[in-house]
Amino acid sequence: MDDPVRHEQLDGAVLTRDGRFWELYEHSFPPAEKEPRDVIEKSVRLGCGLAFRSVLRGETVAMATAHILREVPALFLVYLAVDARRKGRGTGGGLLEFLHAQGCRTIPGGLGTVWEAERARDAATEPGKRIRERRLAFFHRHGGVLLTDAYRQPALAGGQPVPMNILFRPAGAAGSGTPEDARALIRAIYLERYGELNGIPRQRLAALLAPWFAEASPPIA
Ligand SMILES: CC(C)(COP(=O)(O)OP(=O)(O)OC[C@H]1O[C@@H](n2cnc3c(N)ncnc32)[C@H](O)[C@@H]1OP(=O)(O)O)[C@@H](O)C(=O)NCCC(=O)NCCS
Repeated sequence: MDDPVRHEQLDGAVLTRDGRFWELYEHSFPPAEKEPRDVIEKSVRLGCGLAFRSVLRGETVAMATAHILREVPALFLVYLAVDARRKGRGTGGGLLEFLHAQGCRTIPGGLGTVWEAERARDAATEPGKRIRERRLAFFHRHGGVLLTDAYRQPALAGGQPVPMNILFRPAGAAGSGTPEDARALIRAIYLERYGELNGIPRQRLAALLAPWFAEASPPIA
């Protein structure tokens, strides 16, 4: 039987030293979706970013990063990846459960965990669509409910925004997930992660936010 996998949160020094964490990060996401490594390290140093890993017999076999939103207290899951040799054995699910529990425990009044997920219908190929469907099924099994499929992710490398689902797992059994929650979470994700941390200009973010606040007060004062 396998040794049990241990999930843990990393401080900045351990994060910098963990070469396997960074290899997994580099190999698991397309270049256009990756933040520079120093942005992730900076977010952890500032305290708004969290880093997690799963360890098996001393080796890092999964990584995750998240961002603590301020304006609406919630954890924004940014990246989650499992070593290709260990997929399908519960590691990714275990790490997702662990980081959600950490967020609920440590964010005062935390609403839960929110994250972006690619839409199955936008996949260019049938196999690509099936991968996205499997991933969405995985997220649903771990408590993620669809808040909206009309969200657009600001492109980190420039270019057109990418349509995405927004999934949300409430902290308690009784869920939030109202349209007001969705708007507030999206606003916080745009302004706090993509704006403050990634440096995407406010004008571009304001344009993405505008449809969500068409009947309310202006999204950015
Ligand atoms: C999605 C992912 C984190 C799941 O980790 P995992 O350890 O394999 O997950 P678990 O063993 O806990 O659960 C297995 C489920 O994960 C999903 N999954 C596993 N491998 C997958 C893959 N290659 N592609 C998509 N989903 C996958 C499936 O729903 C699977 O259940 P199924 O076999 O019944 O279809 C992992 O596949 C991964 O690292 N993918 C690449 C990076 C990524 O897409 N991250 C998510 C967006 S940030």
